[in-house]
Formats: sequence, C-alpha cells, structure tokens
Amino acid sequence: MNGDITRSQEWAALDKHYEELSGRHLRELFAEDRERAARMTLTAGDLFLDYAKHRVTGETLDLLVALAERAGLRERIDAMFRGDHINVSEDRAVLHTALRLPAGRALTVDGQDVTGDVHAVLDKMSAFSERVRSREWRGATGQPIATVVNIGIGGSDLGPAMAYEALRDYADAGIEARFVSNIDPADITGTLAGLDPATTLFVVSSKTFTTLETLTNARVARQWLVGALGEDAVARHFVAVSTNAAKVAEFGIDTDNMFGFWDWVGGRYSYDGAIGLSLMIAIGPERFREMLAGFHVVDEHFRTAPFDANMPVLMALLGIWYTDFFGAETRAVLPYSQRLHRFPAYLQQLTMESNGKSVRADGSPVGVQTGEIFWGEPGTNGQHAFYQLLHQGTRLVPADFIGFAEPHDDREGMHDLLTANLFAQTSALAFGRTAEEIAAEGTDPAIVPHKVMPGNRPTSTILAPKLTPSTLGQLVALYEHIVFVEGTIWGVDSFDQWGVELGKKMALDLAPALTSDEPPHDLADPSTEQLVRRYRELRGR
Ligand code: F6P
Repeated sequence: MNGDITRSQEWAALDKHYEELSGRHLRELFAEDRERAARMTLTAGDLFLDYAKHRVTGETLDLLVALAERAGLRERIDAMFRGDHINVSEDRAVLHTALRLPAGRALTVDGQDVTGDVHAVLDKMSAFSERVRSREWRGATGQPIATVVNIGIGGSDLGPAMAYEALRDYADAGIEARFVSNIDPADITGTLAGLDPATTLFVVSSKTFTTLETLTNARVARQWLVGALGEDAVARHFVAVSTNAAKVAEFGIDTDNMFGFWDWVGGRYSYDGAIGLSLMIAIGPERFREMLAGFHVVDEHFRTAPFDANMPVLMALLGIWYTDFFGAETRAVLPYSQRLHRFPAYLQQLTMESNGKSVRADGSPVGVQTGEIFWGEPGTNGQHAFYQLLHQGTRLVPADFIGFAEPHDDREGMHDLLTANLFAQTSALAFGRTAEEIAAEGTDPAIVPHKVMPGNRPTSTILAPKLTPSTLGQLVALYEHIVFVEGTIWGVDSFDQWGVELGKKMALDLAPALTSDEPPHDLADPSTEQLVRRYRELRGR
C-alpha cells in the first residue's frame, strides 16, 4: 500500500480487536479452545513453530493477515525475488535470496546472470577453501594454514562469526577461525595472541573496502605479518572479500585472491555469499552448501506458502501486534543452545539496522513504532540473569525460544535438562501462578503477592531436530524474512542504513583533534569540545 497503513480499515479493525482481547488471559484462551495447541503450529522445512502461547485468537490472525494483504505483501515478496529495485533510497535490487538459488534456477536482473555469477563465486570459494583445508595452500614459509582470521565489522563480521560458533562441531579440518572487528586495539591484540604468522591466513572482509575499523585492523595485521615474514609473504597470507576490486588492489591484495559480491547484497544479508569464506574454510564447501540449501528451503516456503501458514509472515505479524498494539518495546531471542550464543547479536544488526527507521520509503514519517529491539542470551544463563523481569516485571517482553531435539554431544542427560528448562519457562510465562494457587500451598499471606506469577507473557517456540548447517540456514532465512515483512507493513526501506553514516564521518573529522597541538576550537558543540580537552589532558597532550 502507498501511504499510511495506520489509516487503513485493517489497522482500525486491529485497534478495536486489541481493546477486546488485551484484557484476556492465555489461561482463558486455552480453556475455551481445546484444539488451540494442536491448531497453532506451523512447519517450515525442519523448523516447527508453536505459537499457541501468543495473545491471539483465530480472529486476530485473520485481521493480521488482512493487514499484510492490505500492505501489498504478496507483490512485495514477488518484487524482491524478481530483483526489482525495492531498496529505493539506494536504487538497488535486494537479492540475498539469490545467494542460495540452486544452480539450475536461472535469474537475470538488470542484464546480469545472477545465478551464474553467484555460482562462479561459490565455486571459486570452494576451490580455495579446499586448497587451504587440504594443506595444498601453503604460507610463505611452506607451512599449511592453521588459523583463519576474518577482519571485518557489522555484516562482514557478525554473520560468519555467529555461524562459525554455531557450526563448530562441523569444523573438521583442524583449522580454527578467529574474528576481529573492533577498532579497539585490544581486539586485534587478543586475536593475534598466540598465533604464528607462518600458519595464519587473513581474510579481509568489507563490502566497500573503505571501512575505517576493518582497514585499520588489516593494516595492523599486515605489519604483524610483514614484521615476521617480510613483504613478499602478503600474497600467501592475505585474501579479500569485497565488491570493490580497486580498493582491494590499492591495499596490496592480489585481486586474483579476491572473492566478490554485488551491491544487491546488503552487508547484514551477506554471510551466505563470499563474506562466509572463513566459515567455508572451517566447515568445508559441502557443509556450506548444505547451509545454503537450508536457506533456500525457507525462501521457498516464504515465497509460496499462504500467509496464514507462512512462518516468517506469521512471526512478523506477531511482532507488529505486540510492537504497535500492545506497545511492547523489545523482543527477546532465547536460544537453548550454547552454540547460538552470538545469534542474538547477529539478529540485532539484521533487524535493527534494517527496520530502525522513522520515515517510510517515500520520505514521509511513519507515525507508529518501528524496529523491534532484539536482545537475548542463551538459556539457561538468561534464566539466572534477566528472566525475573520477564516473569514478574511490569513490561511485556514477547520472546522467541529456540531449541533443538538432538545435541551434538551429551553428558549425563544434560540436553534433556536444557530442553526441560526451555519448555518450563514458556509454560510459566504463559500460565503463571495465581494468588489462590500459592496460598493453597500454605504460603504466608504477606509473601503471596511476591510469589504471584502473572503469566500471559507471550512466546514462540521454535524446535528443530538438530543444529546443523541446514537448520542454521533455515533459522537465519526465517529472521531475514520476518524483517522484510515487518518493513513492508511499516512501509520503510529495510535495506539502507543512512543512520550510521553521520557518526562515521564525524569520527574521522574528530580524530585529528585528539592528537593535534592545536586547541580543538572548531568542534561542533561545546560538550564534545570539553570531552576532547579532557581526553587530551588525560593523555598528557
Ligand atoms: O555499520 C554500517 C555498515 O555499513 C554495515 O551495514 C556493514 O555491514 C558494515 O558497516 C561494514 O561495512 P563493509 O562491509 O563495507 O566494511
């Protein structure tokens, strides 16, 4: 829909429905509908979703689906997969779904053979990864590579770092991957600690190859290597992933050792392409391709399933329901998997850089809250930290619980205990415990109010058979498409990120003032000027 969806009949109908439903408790909704649990489930690939513990009825879902239709979601999905320039502010196609198209599925966009190009890069990555994994690729002293260090930030770091942690059990070539992103020198120092330059390969990952943090870290890494092995070693120890061949060459990396991608892949949507090179080296091209196949399963589900049976659509609409009608400010993502400990951080960039917008694609103000704040930690650690607020606090925090049936490694039935915790938490959050129930246990009446568990706290539970390359790809695609649907309803451009540009430019402008002898007179504001003076004093400048 063009214009303000909040003025639509569908939005008004949801407003009215909210008034009727918001006072009702999940205990009642379950009591009056015996089939609820069985009916409110969905499957996409290997992902099973239980959404019965949401504050919705069949009518809510019908109204939300009507809103999606009103927003023109079907046409938008088709436009994205077709390669229309739906990133309007940058006039670009949005084709991360093409990074996982099977070779046989032709796609030509703006005259480019997209599938052909994607597979050419995948093949080049595979060949290189195999050479490194098989120890054919040797460092400057003739030794094989033992550690791959990915240097990147944002989408050029979080994706491969998250996925490497998630898929550590598949890193079978004895090659460790490390990730450095922050311009804080502690990061590169810590990353290089204990490494042998002779067995270290750096993958400099940057879509633009102009990012200050990445180029600074890459220069430091280069000095470290050259200091130990000499200038000629660079060619055997540095490769690049970028869309910018000129800048890669300028940095001194042979463009034969560059792995490309295209402007229609956003940074935060890119680790299933060349940005995943460090991951591919660690887990191997075959496992990487299994991951891509997993992504594709959910892409196809998203593209073809009717909205009321479409997992990303449904989960996105629930996000809209809580954000814009219940006024929820955040969404917790709680993986019951230690391997997914970087997943919430990865989702923060994916979701918040995408939908943290306050104008619609046409430049007009959005008028409602957008951009859910994603956060989380693996269960059960979170239970012993912040779940108290989820259970008894004054805020409504909808949460996604993610679990796996089969562990990679079990000890003493620990995995069952982990999963029992997941199920217990969602049950306690939904149904709570009443004052009567607590009093009936003989609790001191003065303590009863403290023990009341209000319940009615909504959760999704996603259960998959096992954390594999394929299920990881499915999970990531699920959240990518949730972002897309929410962005469509809000009418924002989910694929630009102008909001991070100003701060980057100002840091570059400010940097000389921290070190120069000149008084920092011409700074933009007195508060910042004062901080610069103080910093210089503290540093004895
Ligand atoms: O933080 C802004 C951003 O442009 C992200 O969107 C991107 O993932 C990150 O910086 C890194 O950019 P690049 O890959 O160009 O170095």
